[in-house]
Amino acid sequence: MYKGKLVKYYDDLYHNKDYIAESKFIEESSKLNKVLDVGCGTGTHIKNLCKDERMFFGIDPENEIIEKASIKFKDNPNVFFKNCHVSEFTEESSFDTVISMFNVVNHILSESDLELYFKSISELLVNGGTFIFDCFNSNAVINDKPKVTMKEVVSSAVGGSYMISCTPVFDSDTGYMKMDNNVRVFHLGAEVDRFDYTLEHRIWLLHFLEELVEKYSMRIEKIVSNFDYNKKASNNDYKITFICKKETK
Ligand SMILES: C[S@@+](CC[C@H](N)C(=O)[O-])C[C@H]1O[C@@H](n2cnc3c(N)ncnc32)[C@H](O)[C@@H]1O
Repeated sequence: MYKGKLVKYYDDLYHNKDYIAESKFIEESSKLNKVLDVGCGTGTHIKNLCKDERMFFGIDPENEIIEKASIKFKDNPNVFFKNCHVSEFTEESSFDTVISMFNVVNHILSESDLELYFKSISELLVNGGTFIFDCFNSNAVINDKPKVTMKEVVSSAVGGSYMISCTPVFDSDTGYMKMDNNVRVFHLGAEVDRFDYTLEHRIWLLHFLEELVEKYSMRIEKIVSNFDYNKKASNNDYKITFICKKETK
């Protein structure tokens, strides 16, 4: 899913996303001496959080995106990347914090893979450690089904912009959601590039996510709205963030 031109343009397409506020919230909610970022993409949370002696490990199953992250941090001795699934990550353990941000959970399409994801993350945490992930809120998506959208994103480069059209197909019986996207890239008003990409999601029921967190020895400390981290998530919040603690045995 995350390949080719999507990886090439990823950071600029999302440069308006408030990674700084997300990173600040992560910083306030957890200890960050040794952190694992599952589905780290191009490493923007790591970039915002890495300072002092903190150690970061970023993993992602898509090789092009992890290569892009690795290049950015090639001179940083405290940041390591690996192209793998979390169940395959055996190099390190005893993390204070695991983060998995920007719908990574929704890119997991089968129940067995989702179980393995929660089980592996729990095993990698120290007792009392923190797991923070965000996702689509099934209650909100079922009430207000995803619609066709067209939006303009202004580039961080002078004179650049993108026109992005997104056509979602959502099956409320299974929670499967496919998003076909078309991106037109403009510079000084002229179209200079274009590409299509498809993202597949599974909108997991909220109570199923809650069950899995608890099944794998974690406790939900709170679930907050992505639009206001001080606010408890409501049924209308389309995106929500879970803060979970590994139970001390
Ligand atoms: C929307 S991107 C988010 C990347 C990054 N966390 C961020 O906030 O920019 C979703 C990421 O999840 C990764 N991903 C897809 N399936 C995954 C899986 N089963 N386990 C972990 N990561 C996955 C993708 O390769 C992609 O990098």
